[in-house]
Amino acid sequence: MKRLLVANAKGGSGKSTLATNLAGMFAARRLRVVLADMDRQQSAARWLARRPAGFPAIHGWLPDSDRDALKAYDPQWVVYDSPAGLHGNKLEELIKRADLVLVPVVPSVLDMDASVDFIEALAAQKAVRRGDSSIALVANRVAPQTLAARELENFLAAWDLPVLTQLHDAQVYVQCAASGASLFDLPRSRAAPEIERWDPLQHWIAQHL
Ligand SMILES: Nc1ncnc2c1ncn2[C@@H]1O[C@H](COP(=O)(O)OP(=O)(O)OP(=O)(O)O)[C@@H](O)[C@H]1O
Ligand SMILES: [Mg+2]
Repeated sequence: MKRLLVANAKGGSGKSTLATNLAGMFAARRLRVVLADMDRQQSAARWLARRPAGFPAIHGWLPDSDRDALKAYDPQWVVYDSPAGLHGNKLEELIKRADLVLVPVVPSVLDMDASVDFIEALAAQKAVRRGDSSIALVANRVAPQTLAARELENFLAAWDLPVLTQLHDAQVYVQCAASGASLFDLPRSRAAPEIERWDPLQHWIAQHL
């Protein structure tokens, strides 16, 4: 079982969007996947409740759910969606569990400022320093060719961490959020061109298996 945590202390950076689409990506490959919603807002759990029957299965999990049931399901992947404001012991606990950590950052000065402390706190975690958890950054909600996009690119490049991809600001994510779907459940014509921006993410995950 591999565990992938999506985290950024900044609210609205795209954690739930990334986590739900990653769960959809694993499910589309017919892997047994659990979407663990660690956020009291339960955006990921609600998304899962909207997921149409007949779509590739994603198993939901909440912190008060039965751990034995999770073990019995024997997932190949657990994707953790985490709350805004994650820090201290809770951050440490989730990082300890995670093999991979993805940090989405959106192109706004306020978001970038707020992400600095978080990325530093992540990099300082014991599990990360020991190499037990690997971190990568993802630019999210990018409007290409804008000043904000360039600023985000420079901001992300300044860290000694891989920057996997630039997900665009695209209505398809909003439609997926509303319907319990991921890009990977849609007909190719509706998911393109955005779905191609997930290829580097998939490669990074595959490299860490
Ligand atoms: N790439 C994108 N293109 C368009 N809309 C997006 C994109 N990513 C996220 N959004 C939208 O931005 C809003 C915030 O995204 P999301 O809920 O994923 O962020 P979050 O980090 O989980 O927020 P919170 O900290 O509140 O949990 C949502 O309405 C979502 O649909
Ligand atoms: Mg969320």
